Amino acid sequence: MAVVAGVNGRRIVIGVTGGIAAYKSAELVRRLRQHGAKVRVVMTAAATEFITPLTMQALSGNPVHTSLLDSSAEAAMGHIELARWADAVLVAPASANLLARMMLGLADDLLTTLCLATEAPLFVAPAMNRVMWTHPATQQNCQVLQQRGVKLLGPAEGEQACGETGVGRMLEAEQLLNALGKYWQQGGLVGCRVLLTAGPTREAIDPVRYISNHSSGKMGYAVAEAAVAAGAEVVLVSGPTALVCPNGVERVEVETAAEMSDAVQAHIEQSQIFIAAAAVADYRPAAVQAKKMKKDAAELSLPLQRTEDILAQVAAAANKPFCVGFAAETHDLEKYAQDKMQRKGLDMIAANQVGDGLGFNADDNTLMVLWQDGKQEIARADKSIVARELITLIAERFHAQSTS
Ligand code: CTP
Repeated sequence: MAVVAGVNGRRIVIGVTGGIAAYKSAELVRRLRQHGAKVRVVMTAAATEFITPLTMQALSGNPVHTSLLDSSAEAAMGHIELARWADAVLVAPASANLLARMMLGLADDLLTTLCLATEAPLFVAPAMNRVMWTHPATQQNCQVLQQRGVKLLGPAEGEQACGETGVGRMLEAEQLLNALGKYWQQGGLVGCRVLLTAGPTREAIDPVRYISNHSSGKMGYAVAEAAVAAGAEVVLVSGPTALVCPNGVERVEVETAAEMSDAVQAHIEQSQIFIAAAAVADYRPAAVQAKKMKKDAAELSLPLQRTEDILAQVAAAANKPFCVGFAAETHDLEKYAQDKMQRKGLDMIAANQVGDGLGFNADDNTLMVLWQDGKQEIARADKSIVARELITLIAERFHAQSTS
């Protein structure tokens, strides 16, 4: 299946800013529609100096949106409705000015308001003079936007409208079309069953006390949500957390490592992907006291025994799913993660540094993702954004493995 097939049926907002490259967006809109996408165009005031809204209306088959206060376009579809309608927003061309306004979170025209109001993936295809592109201000703006999950497409190198040669040309319509198609095709977990573990476990000492850890479950829950967004059917085996079950996720609530292991075994056969994000207690008290223990002794030792390694068991099974583990380390992150991946026979491992305000209970995270013949770092961002990037990587590797 050609990669562009990924755009079929998708609702795409194309944002156009003022620049010579705006003529390429006309071609992009035409090609997107040819491949079955539904397209709506938002133009800044400057964009209308380069290409007419009428051209874009004819090519997209929809009224063009040019102003926050344009009552007729707003009446047809208001900016919030448009923000919700979109499966993706692609700003092409994205001028230096637009990137700066996006970075600041301004909402001073329809396009920037839309970028702020949408929860859909945001793509930008910069187009500008090479000096403007390499200016530290533009570079820094792009870096911040990428950290927030905005995807940068291009720019390319070549001859520029100003007569100079360098980096700053907008990608061609065909390249943008392919990038969008690839995003959905590879990010897609449609038809996949994903089994996840998340949260801590509690290992009883007596009827009122237990051994546990600081895991909040936030990362695992964010990954479950991202997997649903990518089209997967998701079962989440969760230790005790204060979190609300994400929409579309089937949650199985457990307390101990043994219960978590049983729940995983009960669902594993139907799953193509297993993601172990839980912080499973490594040890449990060898015996659970039937009655509350009294503090008569000055010192107390508790004999502990190892719990079952749920992930290692799944990864060792004959018909194992694609297995993804997590590793939380305070030092030598890559070395320990690599070692854990080999030792447990995993397809992928997501390693994160703990300490420095990162890790357990934080809202932000950063990951180093390793697989058998590659690695990628996911920059520090909100856990929901990091989770989406992780799911995209998992889907890519999973599909690559199942077609090899
Ligand atoms: N895991 C599991 N079952 C366990 C222990 C861990 O499924 N009983 C999974 C976790 O969900 C995570 C990965 O294994 O995906 C973490 O490996 P683990 O060996 O627990 O890491 P550490 O405890 O940090 O290892 P070490 O003691 O070697 O640092």
